[in-house]
Amino acid sequence: MTSNTVTKAVIPAAGLGTRFLPATKATPKEMLPVVDTPAIQLVVEEAASAGLTDVLMVTGRNKRPLEDHFDRAAELEVLLEAKGDVARLDLVRRSTDLASVHYVRQGEPRGLGHAVLCAAAHVGDQPFAVLLGDDLIDERDPLLKQMIDIRHSRGGSVIALMEVPADQIHLYGCAAVAPIAGEHSDIVQVLDLVEKPPAAEAPSNLAIIGRYVLDPAVFGVLERTEPGRGGEIQLTDALQVLASSPDAGGVTGVIFRGRRYDTGDRLSYLQAVVQLAAQREDLGPDFTKWLKSFVATL
Ligand code: G1P
Repeated sequence: MTSNTVTKAVIPAAGLGTRFLPATKATPKEMLPVVDTPAIQLVVEEAASAGLTDVLMVTGRNKRPLEDHFDRAAELEVLLEAKGDVARLDLVRRSTDLASVHYVRQGEPRGLGHAVLCAAAHVGDQPFAVLLGDDLIDERDPLLKQMIDIRHSRGGSVIALMEVPADQIHLYGCAAVAPIAGEHSDIVQVLDLVEKPPAAEAPSNLAIIGRYVLDPAVFGVLERTEPGRGGEIQLTDALQVLASSPDAGGVTGVIFRGRRYDTGDRLSYLQAVVQLAAQREDLGPDFTKWLKSFVATL
């Protein structure tokens, strides 16, 4: 295996989840269920489907339930086995079998860039993926796999971009891009990046969504990155440095036009749960039938 192969995923999961209080007073926000599966499991499933089976979670205090969720649950397994309940046994084992999951603590909430820097020792000198848990990508749209392929062919770092309305760009990192000769028009050179610009100052309507494939050169840059927007060490600021560093391979953007579900605030979380429930083979038909009649009463 060459050091150019992407095998590791980093999932920042140290946030306090204050937007979901009181649910997140004693439960990590990553454990909130999307229908019946914790959001974090869906993210690990996505990493595993893209071929990444080494996952590092960057956690903090009160995140023990994450470790329990990805560990064996011996008592439960013995009970379900004795009952012959194979279907539920599979559900219990699934999260354990997905990947080899490791943990490191962030210690202080110093921003996304700092969380990624906490992964340096585990990742070493290899390109790696970063998946942000607030963004869910539909399993039918293999964005991460495409990004890994682009890293293999073009080197450097790769970020996922999505067109958003002008009044939403202040919620995201924003990219100025240029076409790349010979590539599909959705694969672009990133020229400039700015974290959460006011609409009037945004260089485009292209927002960074929470999937990255990063060159290990990002660690050296993050070590030197000063706190930026919100007083936090921003990953976007480090990527801005890499975008203008041909030595580190630059930054390629992939404009994603597939299905993304945001679980970062209450309204979008509810929308994500409804959309994903409606698509489920087991629950979807009954749920959709009920939903239609419910909507008609509004
Ligand atoms: C982070 C990044 C931002 C990116 C966003 C995607 O912001 O800093 O550049 O656009 O994730 O979800 P956060 O949503 O954590 O504030």
